Amino acid sequence: MARNHIAVIDFGAQYSQLIVRRVREVGFFSKLYQPSELAEAGEPAAVILSGGPRSVSEVDAPDIDIDLLRKLNVPVLGICYGMQLLSKRLGGFVAPGHTREYGPARLLPSQPGPLFEGLSPESQIWMSHSDTVKMPPPGATVIGTNQEGVPVALQFAPDWFGIQFHPEVSHSHEGMKILTNFLKLVPAAEPFRMENFKEELITMIRERTHGREVVCGVSGGVDSTVLAVLLKEAGVPHRAIFVDTGLMRKNEAEDVQAQFRQLGVNIQTVHATSRFLGALAGETDPEKKRTIIGNLFIDVFWEAAAKVDMLAQGTLYPDVIESATSGSNITSKIKTHHNRVDRIMDLAKEGRVLEPLAELFKDEVRALGRTMGIPDEILNRHPFPGPGLAVRCPGEVTEDKLSIIREADAIWMNMLKSTGLYNTVWQACATLIPVKTVGVKGDERSYEFAISLRAVTSEDAMTADWAKLPWDFLGQVSNAILNGVKGINRVLYDISTKPPASIEWE
Ligand code: XMP
Repeated sequence: MARNHIAVIDFGAQYSQLIVRRVREVGFFSKLYQPSELAEAGEPAAVILSGGPRSVSEVDAPDIDIDLLRKLNVPVLGICYGMQLLSKRLGGFVAPGHTREYGPARLLPSQPGPLFEGLSPESQIWMSHSDTVKMPPPGATVIGTNQEGVPVALQFAPDWFGIQFHPEVSHSHEGMKILTNFLKLVPAAEPFRMENFKEELITMIRERTHGREVVCGVSGGVDSTVLAVLLKEAGVPHRAIFVDTGLMRKNEAEDVQAQFRQLGVNIQTVHATSRFLGALAGETDPEKKRTIIGNLFIDVFWEAAAKVDMLAQGTLYPDVIESATSGSNITSKIKTHHNRVDRIMDLAKEGRVLEPLAELFKDEVRALGRTMGIPDEILNRHPFPGPGLAVRCPGEVTEDKLSIIREADAIWMNMLKSTGLYNTVWQACATLIPVKTVGVKGDERSYEFAISLRAVTSEDAMTADWAKLPWDFLGQVSNAILNGVKGINRVLYDISTKPPASIEWE
C-alpha cells in the first residue's frame, strides 16, 4: 500500500480491526498487518501496535522488527501488548503476570504532553493485560497512572507512546480523544474518504477476479446489495442469485426482486422452499439447523449457478470474528455463520472466495452504499440473518410456525417504521416461543404459542443492549399482534443484553 496510511500491527487482540476502524473514524486510511509484515506496509505515516493475548516473556512471543520501526521514523503507539513489547525491546523490564487484569480502571494523566492533551484529570479506561512494565526503558517518561499510582502510559520518545489500556473500545471513555491526539502527530497521513476506499475495493476486485466470472448470492440485505452494486460498478463479469429459502419474511421474495430491478442489477431467483423445509423437518438443534441451511443453500445456489469460478460474499468484519473457530488467535466459536460453512471455507482455500467488505463494519458498509447511490431505505434495513426465520423459530421449523412469525414480524416492522422508531434501533425481530400457554380469547380458553419481540441498540452487533422503546408503543404493538395474528395469545419483550444473550435466539 503506497498511501501514507496508518499501519496497525495485529498481535492477536480480540478486536484489532476495531483500531483500524477507529483510525478511519478519526479520518485516516488504515490497514491491519501481521507482525512479520511490517516491511509490507511500505512507508506508513504512523504505526500502532495492537494488544494481544500473549506475554512478551514467552520464548516465541510475537515480536516486531524494532530496527525497521526506528528507521521508519514515524509516530508509534503501543497498546497493551504493544506497549510491553516496546518497553522490552527498548531496554525496559517487563514482568510476566500470572493472572489477567481485565476491566475498568481510572486514567490519571501525570505529565502534560501531546497524547493526553485536553483529557479530564481522571477518566475511565478499559484494561486487559497480564504483563506489567516494572522498569520503563531508559529515557522513557511515565505520563499517566491508574488510581493506585501504577504507571499505565509511557512516552518513549517525542512521538513514541505506550498505553496499558484499550483506547479503541467505547468503555475507555476518552479513548477516541487519545487516538485523535496521537493522529494529530501525523500530518502526512492520507485522509480516509469512502469514495477512495471504494476505488481501492474495485481495483482489488478486478485484480483478484482477473476476468473470471463472479457469482454472488443476494438476500436483499444491506451487505449483499452493496456487494452486488459494487461488482456492477467494478464492471467485472458477474451474476447475482437470490435463493428463496422459504425462511424469508412476509412478501420479502417479491420485495427483493423489485429492489434489484430498481438498482439495475439482474438477479436470478430460485424457489426452494420445499427443499429447505424438507431438510429441516424434525431437526431441533440450533447448530445442526444452521449447518443444514448453510449446506443446502450452497447446493441450491451451486445448481443454479451451474459453474462458479469465483464466489463473492458480503461478509463483514463482525461475521468474520464471530465465526472464527476456537484455537485461532481471535475468538472462540459462538455460532456458525452462514457464510463460513465448510464448503465455502474449502473454496476460500483455493482463493476463489471474494469478500470485499470483510474489513468493514455495518455503518461503513452503509456509507459505502451511499457513495454508489443506493437509497437510504435499502441501506437502513435492519440486518437479517442468513438462516432467516429458522433462527427465530426455536425447535423444529414448520410452515405453521413460520407463518405466525411472518405475520407478527410484519406488524412489528410496520409499526416501528410508521412511528419512526425503526431507524433508532440496530435491529428488531420477532421470535416464536414454541411453548403453548393458556389464555382467554372471546370468553374461550385458548392454548397457543407466545411471541417474543426484540429490539436492540448496537454499534456493530458484537455487543447489544435492549432498546428502551416507549411502553405505550410496545402496548400498541402487542395489541395489534394479539388481535391480528392467529396462534398467539402472549407477547413478550426481550430485555436481554448481548452478552450474555445473543441478538438472534439461535
Ligand atoms: P447474534 O445472534 O450472533 O447476531 O448476536 C449478531 C448479528 O448477526 C446476525 N446473524 C447473522 N448474519 N448470517 C448472517 O449473515 C448468519 O448466520 C447470522 N446469524 C446471526 C444477527 O441477525 C445480528 O445482526
